[in-house]
Amino acid sequence: MKPAQMDRTPFADLDSQPSEMTAMLLAALEAMGRHPEIRRVRETAWQALRPRPGERLLDAGSGAGDVARWLATKVGPAGEVVALDYSAATIAAAVQRHDGSNVRYMTGDVSAMNLPAGSFDGVWCERVLQHVDDADAALAELIRVTRPGGRLCLVDTDWESLAFDGVPARLAATIVADMHGRLTPRQRDMGRTLRRRLIRARLSDVTATPVTCVFGDPASAAVVLPMVNPMVPEAAWTTPPGVRDEWFSYVDAAGARGDFLAILTIWVVTGTVG
Ligand SMILES: C[S@@+](CC[C@H](N)C(=O)[O-])C[C@H]1O[C@@H](n2cnc3c(N)ncnc32)[C@H](O)[C@@H]1O
Repeated sequence: MKPAQMDRTPFADLDSQPSEMTAMLLAALEAMGRHPEIRRVRETAWQALRPRPGERLLDAGSGAGDVARWLATKVGPAGEVVALDYSAATIAAAVQRHDGSNVRYMTGDVSAMNLPAGSFDGVWCERVLQHVDDADAALAELIRVTRPGGRLCLVDTDWESLAFDGVPARLAATIVADMHGRLTPRQRDMGRTLRRRLIRARLSDVTATPVTCVFGDPASAAVVLPMVNPMVPEAAWTTPPGVRDEWFSYVDAAGARGDFLAILTIWVVTGTVG
């Protein structure tokens, strides 16, 4: 069990969640992974990391392992991908989904990994640092396990970039402010801090690519944005009474007119370890 933290997110310690909640979150992650906009983010990250056949990669905070298995197709049978996640339940789910590819699954904390220094050619870490207590300590650990000349690829959301159109601005502002209030500070802005973190950690060839995800209808947005997902239970909403129903009536109307829009920037940041 992880030590108690002041500001927890469910993803900071999935094993402390009821098993149905963990299963629901993993299913949500998998649905996101199939979303064309998330695939576009991952293609951007892959282009930036450019894994080659025979390489050894780490997917740190791997969730149910779909990215690790995808990366395994890139490094081929001569390479290897290690999928590491803090959550034992998540790693068990990843093992169940194993497809025979060259992936090894293990539990571990990105901030203190039981892995030798310099043992990876490349490290992928997607939407994880926003959930750890000390992102720079975790980053130092990711750098430690990367060989000199190896590449780090970090992917994280900038939730402060979230914006809507096609719905009343004052209502969208209420929904966005409510979400900001429920996120931890590091969750809100992690994506855009990654470039600065890699530069200060003295990586070279740092690239930073903001990928703005565009959701042109409510059903597409709902896969990634919980405040557009009508399946999120009403009890989980923290807006004043009536706001949720009013919001969804405008979201549905915008969807029916075809002018609903939501945008969210996810950053892809890479650097070379010295
Ligand atoms: C939002 S999910 C992202 C999973 C996957 N990278 C993806 O993009 O689909 C965050 C993952 O990070 C894991 N995680 C959170 N804190 C961690 C830590 N300190 N060490 C390792 N994994 C951690 C969670 O268990 C969860 O699987």
